Amino acid sequence: MTRPSSLWWQEAIIYQVYPRSYLDTNGDGVGDLNGITDRLDYIAQLGVDIVWISPFFKSPMKDFGYDIADYCDVDPMFGTLDDFDRLIAKAHSVGVKIMIDQVMSHCSERHPWFVESRSSRDNPKADWFVWADPKPDGNPPNNWLSVFGGSAWQWDARRKQYYMHNFLTSQPDLNFHNPEVQQAMLDSLRFWLRRGVDGVRLDAVTFHFHDKALRDNPVATVRDTSTVTDANPYGMQAHVYDKCRPENVPFLRRVREVLDEFNAVSIGEVGADDALAFMAEYTAGGDKLHMAYSFNLLTEDSSARHIRTQVEDFKRRVKDGWASWSVGNHDVPRVATRWGKGKDPRAFGKVALAMQLSLKGTPTLYQGDELAFTEADVPYELIQDPYGITFWPEFKGRDGCRTPIAWTDGPNGGFTTGTPWLPVAPEHIAAAASVQETDVDSPLNFARRMIAWRRTMPQLTRGDIEFLDAPEPVLAFRRTLAGERSVLCLFNLGGSDVTFTLPQARGAAKLPQPGLPGDVVDGVVTLPACGGWLGYEA
Ligand code: GLC
Repeated sequence: MTRPSSLWWQEAIIYQVYPRSYLDTNGDGVGDLNGITDRLDYIAQLGVDIVWISPFFKSPMKDFGYDIADYCDVDPMFGTLDDFDRLIAKAHSVGVKIMIDQVMSHCSERHPWFVESRSSRDNPKADWFVWADPKPDGNPPNNWLSVFGGSAWQWDARRKQYYMHNFLTSQPDLNFHNPEVQQAMLDSLRFWLRRGVDGVRLDAVTFHFHDKALRDNPVATVRDTSTVTDANPYGMQAHVYDKCRPENVPFLRRVREVLDEFNAVSIGEVGADDALAFMAEYTAGGDKLHMAYSFNLLTEDSSARHIRTQVEDFKRRVKDGWASWSVGNHDVPRVATRWGKGKDPRAFGKVALAMQLSLKGTPTLYQGDELAFTEADVPYELIQDPYGITFWPEFKGRDGCRTPIAWTDGPNGGFTTGTPWLPVAPEHIAAAASVQETDVDSPLNFARRMIAWRRTMPQLTRGDIEFLDAPEPVLAFRRTLAGERSVLCLFNLGGSDVTFTLPQARGAAKLPQPGLPGDVVDGVVTLPACGGWLGYEA
């Protein structure tokens, strides 16, 4: 079965770069676009196809770039538009595609749109944000909450009204019911597509629309503690009116039309009570998003059962949509710690990566996970993330996964000649990229081999997936593709040795895959702690 070339992204691997923490080339302690350009050879050598760059647009950086003050310019901290053009040119010359991060749901309070909108009740941008009168007792218009804690409404003294913010008070929510807002977002998307970007990650894609009638959210029947800490009351509501509104579907069709003009691809970040349902809906039909990921594999639950349930549930609901499975990013503790607690991080990093690359769906890797970096311990005095400051110490925020990459074992891990905006973790410096480079068994060299090998296995990129019953902590599944031998994938996500008896009547032969420990004797596979085994079935 050959796949239309327009579906190349289903076989691709996405690699996320968090620009503040990749490489600093001007000594200000913050990574920059030139730093990414400098490392494109490393990225190409890793073998990934698409680089998703977290926001580098003009911003007061209250949420580190996810609060945009100008959608069509680069923040001077990160460089210039010329630097971005050079980055794109170099990326394309080494065969890597570039995906930007579009934060459409909200912008910065410093964006000229909001400055104008809040100046009066009757200016041309008056209706560009979600404004509402107080209740007769002065309280906010409804019970909506912010993901980052507290009410989703902030009082504005001049308009004598509340404005809505799903995240920080400095991130006012744009009113997508206003057609001019939709148009402005599509125009900014075109601006970057014309500059040659190959795709877009849509931040907080379920948050674009709110219920116009501002109805109260009902109480959650099951409290969501998977995507927000249980110290956060956000999980106590069913989020049916403040996000996930039906009007988003036609808007996503408009986004797709623009993307199609440029042959560009999209991936949406789906935060929802039932995220798999929205991943399925938003990627169905080939006329909305290409791919979507949720927080379902970004939680603390590392059991094989949990992973299996997510992938199977998605498969059951998806029809013709497409998932991206993400096990780490800039919003959650690093996977080598979150799931790998108490295990050897190098070994766990490898098995987690091998598992992610073997699931059905486009893998999205997070910078540093190819090096099996663990969560860094950032002391309270150095914490930068406002989310962490609010919920400390029950939830320490997102800085521990955002510390700069250690490229060398020199000062500051070679990340900067200045003072890094977050400390470079000493344990990362000891396991720096340059150190791993010379060690054939390092997570980095394993990642390179595993990625290269996956390309030779159409079962893993295009095949169907079917799970096998296995005792915890073994995740067992089969990837099948017409005309190819099926591949059995076994991963021991635990810290002790286990065995797995191969299904009867099917022989199996270990594939010359890139070095996961695991072996078969007489139909019984031995999987050491954090081991894996990939074999052909007869
Ligand atoms: C997304 C981003 C996160 C950001 C939030 C608000 O969840 O991944 O980093 O804080 O949106 O823009």
